[in-house]
Amino acid sequence: MSIQNIGKYIIRLDSVDSTNNYTSALFAKENPAEGTVIMADYQEAGRGQRETIWESEHGKNLLASIILYPKLDASDYFLFNQCISLAVQEMTETELGKEVKIKWPNDILVKRKKIAGILIENTIRGNSFLHSIAGIGINANQLKFQNYFLPATSFSLEKKNIYMISDLLNKLCSCLNKWYTALEKEDFDFISSSYSKKMYKKDEPAFYESKGEKFEGIIRGVNEDGKLWIEKDNGELLKFSFKEVKFLFE
Ligand code: BTN
Repeated sequence: MSIQNIGKYIIRLDSVDSTNNYTSALFAKENPAEGTVIMADYQEAGRGQRETIWESEHGKNLLASIILYPKLDASDYFLFNQCISLAVQEMTETELGKEVKIKWPNDILVKRKKIAGILIENTIRGNSFLHSIAGIGINANQLKFQNYFLPATSFSLEKKNIYMISDLLNKLCSCLNKWYTALEKEDFDFISSSYSKKMYKKDEPAFYESKGEKFEGIIRGVNEDGKLWIEKDNGELLKFSFKEVKFLFE
C-alpha cells in the first residue's frame, strides 16, 4: 500500500459483538482497503488474548480493529506484532508523559497496570500473510475495572482528565503509520531494538512460572520468532513460546 494510510477510512459502530469479529466478516464479502479502521463504542463480546473477555463500558474506551496486508513471510509475524505493540506503547507514553512498557508479547503497561491490550488475528496461506486484523483496546475514560490477573488502569485514572476517543484514535493512527512504514522499509533492526528497549522487566530479576515450576530469572530479549529469553540464576538461557510461561507479580 502507499504508506501513511492507516486511519484514512473509518467505520464507526455504536455496538457490535467484537470489532475483530466484524472485521473478519468483512473479509468474507470484500477485500477492504488496507488501513481501514473499524471502531465501536461498545462490544457485547469483546475478546482478549487466551480466550478472555475484554471489558469496556459503553463509550468510555478506544476499541478498534485495523485491517492490514503485511508484505512479510508468515515466519516474520513477530516483526509485525512488535510494530503494533510499539505504536500503542508510543502513543500511550507520549500522551501520558509517563513510562509505558510492553509486557511480552503485547500487553501495554503503566507500572504494573494494564492500560491497553492487543489481539492480532492473522490469516496465513503457505508462508505468506493474506491479511491481518490488529485489534486494539485502549482504556481511556473508564474508572473502575473488575479484578484481573493484571490490574487495569486508564488514561483518566493516570491523568485525572477526560479524553476524546477520536483524538486518541488520530494519535494512535499516526504512531501505527510510523511503525508500519518502518516495517515496509524493512527497518527490522530498528523495530527489534526499539521493542527490546521497551520490554517490561528486561534485565531485571523477576519471578516466572512454567510447567508448574516457579523460578527467578532475568528477561534478556526475544528471538526473531517471538520466543522470550529468560536467563536463570545458574546462567541457563530458557526460551519460551506464548502460553509456555507466566509472569508472577510481587
Ligand atoms: C488482551 O487480552 O490484552 C487483548 C485485548 C484486545 C481488545 C481489543 S478491543 C478491539 C478488538 N476487538 C476485540 O474483540 N478485541 C480487540
